[in-house]
Amino acid sequence: MAATSMDQLVSLCKRRGFIFQNADIYGGQQGVYDYGPLGVELKNNLKNAWWRAMVYERDDVEGLDAAILTNRKVLKYSGHEDTFSDPMCDCRKCKGRFRADHITDGKCPNCGSTDLTEPRPFNLMFKTQVGPVESDENLAYLRPETAQAIFTQFKNVVDATSRKLPFGIAQIGKSFRNEITPRNFIFRVREFEQAELEYFVLPGEDEKYHELWKEARINWWLEQGLVKEHMNIYTTPHDDLAHYAKACYDIEYQFPHGMEELEGIANRRDYDLGNHTKAQEEFDLEAHCHANPDSTTKLCIRDEENGKWVIPFVIEPSMGVDRGVLAVLTEAYTEEDLGEGNSRIVLKLKKHLAPIKVAIIPLKKNSEAIMQKCHELKNKLMKLGIGRVALENTGNIGKAYRRHDEVGTPLCLTVDFETLENTPESVTIRDRDTMQQQRVNTADLPSFLREYFL
Ligand code: GAP
Repeated sequence: MAATSMDQLVSLCKRRGFIFQNADIYGGQQGVYDYGPLGVELKNNLKNAWWRAMVYERDDVEGLDAAILTNRKVLKYSGHEDTFSDPMCDCRKCKGRFRADHITDGKCPNCGSTDLTEPRPFNLMFKTQVGPVESDENLAYLRPETAQAIFTQFKNVVDATSRKLPFGIAQIGKSFRNEITPRNFIFRVREFEQAELEYFVLPGEDEKYHELWKEARINWWLEQGLVKEHMNIYTTPHDDLAHYAKACYDIEYQFPHGMEELEGIANRRDYDLGNHTKAQEEFDLEAHCHANPDSTTKLCIRDEENGKWVIPFVIEPSMGVDRGVLAVLTEAYTEEDLGEGNSRIVLKLKKHLAPIKVAIIPLKKNSEAIMQKCHELKNKLMKLGIGRVALENTGNIGKAYRRHDEVGTPLCLTVDFETLENTPESVTIRDRDTMQQQRVNTADLPSFLREYFL
């Protein structure tokens, strides 16, 4: 089968209610998307899988859910006010504005004119005002990364949890960047979600943990269904590193539009904690810090071995949730030839990611007895904690199978006349990938489904 195209994904996402263009009825808002009924389930499942692996399954990570509105000083001392920009060129002819690295042969990508300005920096952060008065004092930003609040809350988390190095703080949430050229569906957007871990280690142990996190994150993506052959590890060249980074690996994925960054794993050294710290006299780490007259706090921790205060180094695996959704959709999308001119689209998502886990399908929708049994089963099965159990009432079993194949439902459970008439009572279960069917006694369904999903 040919590689999945972006058009196939966009079409499926709209048709089946995964992802819609924001403000569609007004012609859309560029670089902003809304997740529909199935998209929200898929995205939540991916975020839950990340949280489980990064927080629940470890003994060295705490969670955080910080505000999006960000005090200007945070982004001043983080370096974002000065450096978080893309060089841009304006076309004097068509008045378009383009990223300098998207211009080839000195020509405007829109009209082909060579009458372009020199590149000028364009800050990517969204500004807003806090309170009723528009003034510089009241300026705030929508955060461009979730990470900064993890740094500014470092001491509060340490004080509240008594954590010792190494340990991490994890957070999932929205970030905002005024991307000049949002494109490739949900790949590069202006409002997106990040799942970020800041893992604090002793200086000198950073390189070891950078390697460990690279391996851990590759393995996690394999568990989400991506295959090794579609992934690549890119080591960022030194002169291309973000302003805070000492080193960075990108986990790249073969998206429909090309091999591109899915997740960054950076060694941010002590740059952020150092720059948000009140004074440096007690540390011998001045090299990575600027004087900060505004901060009230020292963001440091005791080295257990020698009792000295240190500013930890930080390893940061940072995944784009929307890019994750796009990657698992790309990997799962399959068109199967069933022979005799028949084919089907099937979304072979890992079962923990599937938006709907079980669809209950009545053989006949106008049979009251069958519908009653379907409702009864739905009420019973949704209490198992396996995820969403959906009740279909289209009354056309072929169509229902096709729809659930397309949205990746692992199991379809059909209630028919045999269910009602036979003893013991049983239903048909159809497997999405093999299309094989088997009869299972309804009394055994809870244990069958628990074993299958949990
Ligand atoms: N805290 C580090 C940080 O923000 P980044 O490489 O700029 O690093 C991390 O972003 C991840 O966030 C990227 O690997 C990508 O998956 C996602 N991301 C960044 N910009 C994005 C955008 N405009 N649209 C969608 N995802 C984006």
